Amino acid sequence: MSDTQFHTITIAGATGNLGFHIANAFLNQGSYNVKVLRRKPENINEKANLLASKGAKIVYADFNDKNDLINTIKGTDVFISAVGYGDYYNNQIILLNASKEVGVKRFIPSEFGSEFAQGMEPHPILAGKYKLREVLEKSGLEYTYIFNGVFYEFLEVFGFDAKNKKVTFYTSGNEKVRITSLADVGRYTAESIKIPEARNGIIRVGYTLTLNELLQKFEDASGSKWEVVEDKDVQRRFKEKIDPIPPPIDEFKAFISNNAVYYDVDNDKFSFTPLSITEFLNSNIKHS
Ligand SMILES: NC(=O)c1ccc[n+]([C@@H]2O[C@H](COP(=O)([O-])OP(=O)(O)OC[C@H]3O[C@@H](n4cnc5c(N)ncnc54)[C@H](OP(=O)(O)O)[C@@H]3O)[C@@H](O)[C@H]2O)c1
Repeated sequence: MSDTQFHTITIAGATGNLGFHIANAFLNQGSYNVKVLRRKPENINEKANLLASKGAKIVYADFNDKNDLINTIKGTDVFISAVGYGDYYNNQIILLNASKEVGVKRFIPSEFGSEFAQGMEPHPILAGKYKLREVLEKSGLEYTYIFNGVFYEFLEVFGFDAKNKKVTFYTSGNEKVRITSLADVGRYTAESIKIPEARNGIIRVGYTLTLNELLQKFEDASGSKWEVVEDKDVQRRFKEKIDPIPPPIDEFKAFISNNAVYYDVDNDKFSFTPLSITEFLNSNIKHS
């Protein structure tokens, strides 16, 4: 692992699910100036307070005021966007433009999900991420895309309902899924800036297993057999508006289940072993 020439790291979205762990991982490394960029107006936020107590500088900008944004992020070497669900293009292009203005060296956009085959039409929810990548690649800034599959903490949203011991598969249970914990995605992101392959590249991380294998882990951790619901027709019913029309979130999950691709991971380029799903479930799922 090479030494990094980056000193000041600015993170947008550090009060969110993932951004907090990214900021925390940089702070744990102890060698960076970490800035948490928040949107004005200033408000109290527990995660921001916690990061500040560990040494982060909390800075505020009006994201719609280019000069304010530029003045606030001056001196940044690496800008990381972990902004959440929304208009991923318009919410980030202002951050990318400001980064370019102030001479940021590397920009890591808010990807942090599944990967799809090159040239494939993006899902509408992800279209803004794709559009941003196109601009980023032409910007002259270095970039890294981090693909981690589904966060452990979001497997419930993805269909694994531990409370009711029920899982919904939107594709065959023999299909693959890739999974990583939020804290480990934070660590991978922080370490990525020391890894040569991450410069203008893709970093793929996480454990890959089949949906059936993952179900077995949930069953082992909960000590009981789960009900399996197979709903493989969600995308067609959604598209053709066939009753009962599936909720958009189910259509998105079905899109991921049916279209994500799984190239080899880069886990072994990093200094740590990620938390296993078994360890995670044993601490987070009730055993009956
Ligand atoms: N792989 C998975 O399983 C999975 C699951 C969920 C999300 N993700 C991805 O992970 C990334 C981060 O998602 P998240 O769930 O961590 O985000 P989040 O918690 O919803 O939001 C993160 C932060 O973004 C900031 N923010 C919100 N709206 C914004 C806007 N319009 N403009 C600028 N900043 C805004 C807020 O910070 P301030 O209020 O401090 O400004 C917020 O705390 C996204 O790319 C998302 O697609 C992946």
